[in-house]
Amino acid sequence: MMQILILGSGGREHALAWKIAQSPRCSRLFIAPGNAGTSLVGENIDLQIHDFESVGEFVQKHRIDMIVVGPEEPLVNGIADFFADNPDLRHVLMVGPRKTGAALEGSKAFAKEFMARNGIPTARYRSFSKETLNEGKTFLETLPAPYVLKADGLAAGKGVVISSTLEEAKQTLDDMLVKEAFGKASATVVVEEFLQGIELSVFAIADGKSYHLLPSAKDYKRVGEKDTGPNTGGMGAISPVPFANKDFMDKVEHRVVKPTIEGLKKEGIHYCGFLFFGLMNVKGDPYVIEYNVRLGDPETEAILPRIGSDLVSLLEAAARGTLHSLKVDILPDYAATVVLVSGGYPGAYEKGFAVTGIEDVKDSMLFFAGLKGEGKHPLTSGGRVMAITSLAPELFEALRRSYENAGLVDYMGKYYRRDIGKDLMGH
Ligand code: AMP
Ligand code: GLY
Repeated sequence: MMQILILGSGGREHALAWKIAQSPRCSRLFIAPGNAGTSLVGENIDLQIHDFESVGEFVQKHRIDMIVVGPEEPLVNGIADFFADNPDLRHVLMVGPRKTGAALEGSKAFAKEFMARNGIPTARYRSFSKETLNEGKTFLETLPAPYVLKADGLAAGKGVVISSTLEEAKQTLDDMLVKEAFGKASATVVVEEFLQGIELSVFAIADGKSYHLLPSAKDYKRVGEKDTGPNTGGMGAISPVPFANKDFMDKVEHRVVKPTIEGLKKEGIHYCGFLFFGLMNVKGDPYVIEYNVRLGDPETEAILPRIGSDLVSLLEAAARGTLHSLKVDILPDYAATVVLVSGGYPGAYEKGFAVTGIEDVKDSMLFFAGLKGEGKHPLTSGGRVMAITSLAPELFEALRRSYENAGLVDYMGKYYRRDIGKDLMGH
């Protein structure tokens, strides 16, 4: 039996808490700081997750056996190192890589160099700093439009700029490097070739030696229907991805996943935790757009309901290095996740609205994100309010259920995309 602490507060963490709470191996579950949803399946703790000392004190006081880190920031800042390097804390099982592994997400330049060293397909690129600004502009001239510029460091998901003209791209490079448009995160900028294709998210869990693939998903990032308007944290997700058939997934495994795991080992990076491959399917061939060192949101809300195996056993095996002895059971059903957001998101929005209709929801799972308070009438407290996931043998049926329930839940300013999964029907 284990006492488990999850770090984070989004829909991803509600889904993790929901799945972990079902495990016969979990005796007590804490979520820091959590949200109105995690409090339904565990105990929310008012902890600053970026204050590792406080997390360490809590872990000792409550005899926590395992920590599951939801977001990337604590990992990039070294929470796994903090625990591993402290004699009083190193016995705690940590699901999440150390800083060296988390750099796959924390530094886009590092990730690109890693891919180049290990022969992993990705867009052609070069990295530039203030000192090499002019070389950067010359490199841009060698690429066809549009142009992709990426701030090296974490920039709250906003560090990628796609410019349609050469002039605009040069100006953006100037803004990022000289005017520090993203602060320190853009002291180095990766300039890369634009890849034309369809994106998908592939997930794996690794234990430093081996890995298991988890379900893959397609995320819908733009706020508007038909993928228009600004990027958001994610407006919906579908799993599995119909175009990610066996042939394509074999390529993903052989060209991307295996070389990544082997490369980490070769470079002495002991990687335990989730790995998220943001891929572009370019005419049937996978290219890595980005690595993330965590699960995706809202993909988690679509993929965890499809995992039949006990998640706690899987997480424990990842932390202990015994994944090879486990099998991951993945359900064949489709999961369709629709995200309800606050009106105005991802721009300015109002919050504090009462949510009604939750008790009328049938045949779907609700994963709360920007919701606070308890009971059946929580208040909106963020941009992404909740994810509604349904499972069914057919995609259209899973979507029908999620949309029916999206209509039943209500609050002032409710918005959601009505075309999630539409592009995948008939594939
Ligand atoms: P990120 O913030 O790293 O998730 O990137 C934001 C989005 O930019 C990705 O989801 C892609 O849609 C797009 N993107 C990033 N790199 C490329 C690329 N090389 N070619 C085309 N689109 C890209
Ligand atoms: N859904 C994309 C992400 O979590 O980064």
